[in-house]
Amino acid sequence: MAKKKDIKKYKNYINGKWVASASGDYFDNVNPADTRDVVGRFPKSNAADIDAAVEAAVGAAKKWRQTPAPKRAELLFTLGEILRANKDDFTKQMTREMGKVVKEAGGDVQEAIDCTYYTAGEGRRLHGFTTPAEMPNKFAMCVRQPVGVCGLITPFNFPMAIPSWKLIPALVCGNTVVLKSGEDVPLSSLNLVKACEEAGIPKGVVNLVNGLGEDVGPTLVGHKDVRLISFTGSTATGRIIAEQCARDNKIVSLEMGGKNAIIVMDDADVDNAVEGSLWGAFGTSGQRCTASSRLVVHRKVYKRFCAKLVERINKLRVGNGLESKTEVGPVINQGAMEKILSYIEIGQSHDKATLAAGGSRLTKGAYKNGYFIEPTVFTDVSPKMRIGQEEIFGPVTSVIPFSTLDEAIDIVNDVAYGLSSAIYTQDVNQAFYAMQELYTGICYVNSATIGAEVHLPFGGTKGTGNGHREAGTQVLDIFSEWKSLYIDYSGKLQKAQIDAVEI
Ligand code: UN1
Repeated sequence: MAKKKDIKKYKNYINGKWVASASGDYFDNVNPADTRDVVGRFPKSNAADIDAAVEAAVGAAKKWRQTPAPKRAELLFTLGEILRANKDDFTKQMTREMGKVVKEAGGDVQEAIDCTYYTAGEGRRLHGFTTPAEMPNKFAMCVRQPVGVCGLITPFNFPMAIPSWKLIPALVCGNTVVLKSGEDVPLSSLNLVKACEEAGIPKGVVNLVNGLGEDVGPTLVGHKDVRLISFTGSTATGRIIAEQCARDNKIVSLEMGGKNAIIVMDDADVDNAVEGSLWGAFGTSGQRCTASSRLVVHRKVYKRFCAKLVERINKLRVGNGLESKTEVGPVINQGAMEKILSYIEIGQSHDKATLAAGGSRLTKGAYKNGYFIEPTVFTDVSPKMRIGQEEIFGPVTSVIPFSTLDEAIDIVNDVAYGLSSAIYTQDVNQAFYAMQELYTGICYVNSATIGAEVHLPFGGTKGTGNGHREAGTQVLDIFSEWKSLYIDYSGKLQKAQIDAVEI
């Protein structure tokens, strides 16, 4: 373990230069599997750093916007190649700062690579449309225009994938950006931004400001020259951001909480459903917006399902994500750990659900210096219990019994969120009916609630978002605005809606 003075110090990236924060202060990036291991020291920025970064983004905006989109995209394809070449290093560094197991961290970097290649392809599309005008000798069409300076605020759970979901479409559309990454995982964003520099993205187009949310977030969100805020994180913070953006008339795209559920029908392949539930509930230690935090199981298979689930949970290997045998890593930090443990307590003493597996922090031996929680399952949960309603964001899931498909659908829909849902069944009628009735942005048949791919829209209903979708081509509607163009080549004044056309 490095001595304090040997720990590497990192910098912000503003206007093409790596610079210390205005205050000269730093915060530690700590390994959640072993808090004695400090990954690096990162600039503890403040409003002055945000101001400098926004100024750089404003300065670079015109030239970048005037660069043809296919040329912008060429740099992004190069970026994709750099990410691919560094995948192994970025993966290990991500596990060290975030805790997720190496295989999943590799998936996270891969998602950034996929997003980069896929979205860069839009540089040669960015389709608008033409449509007939209502007057003769007049042409009508619609094109996308960039928005301006975008503030991107990203969470800890997908340290490279989520920044890429925002950064790449922002750039291909011709915007410049200021990125503020989750303070628990600054290295992965820094790796992404460094790769942008290496790819030749001009100075000022991408700016990175590290720091704590409360120190820099309000300045970025409230800055008069920032036109758009794209945020992924908690519903509470998202609401504050949305209120500020509403006052300033800014574009705001929010991706927030989830309380996702898997329905297991009586005709389901129970083994497959159990495997899916484990992956959905405990992958990334349950720290996904898409995590399967409710398992809604038909009474006819309930006992069998619960028994198999508990048997499998008790065999899951919890540990340091860098070790190849580990299946479930630590949670991100002390605060998160305490919140998750408090929900486990609520499940027992307030909700009075049955704690069927797990339930404790792991503190002995190799777990001593990390934030490890046993994979935990509650059974006999009723839908209105707090653990059945509130987002826990940790390795905890609840099994809820039901009798009819309509009842199950009501249970799934009856929460404040609507990101992802799933159903295990062999019956095509039931599958299609569920796909129709589940009010979520994403729905899976015969797999868990996680595993979205970059070329399909990602986002949710109700408390999960504010109507936008990231990924796919739909993300372009966040990072560009429509401009309608009318070209009158008649050589005379023609008044729309007023001048009658002789037929
Ligand atoms: C998130 O949980 O915030 O579908 C993102 C998934 C991942 C992305 C999750 N591809 O689980």
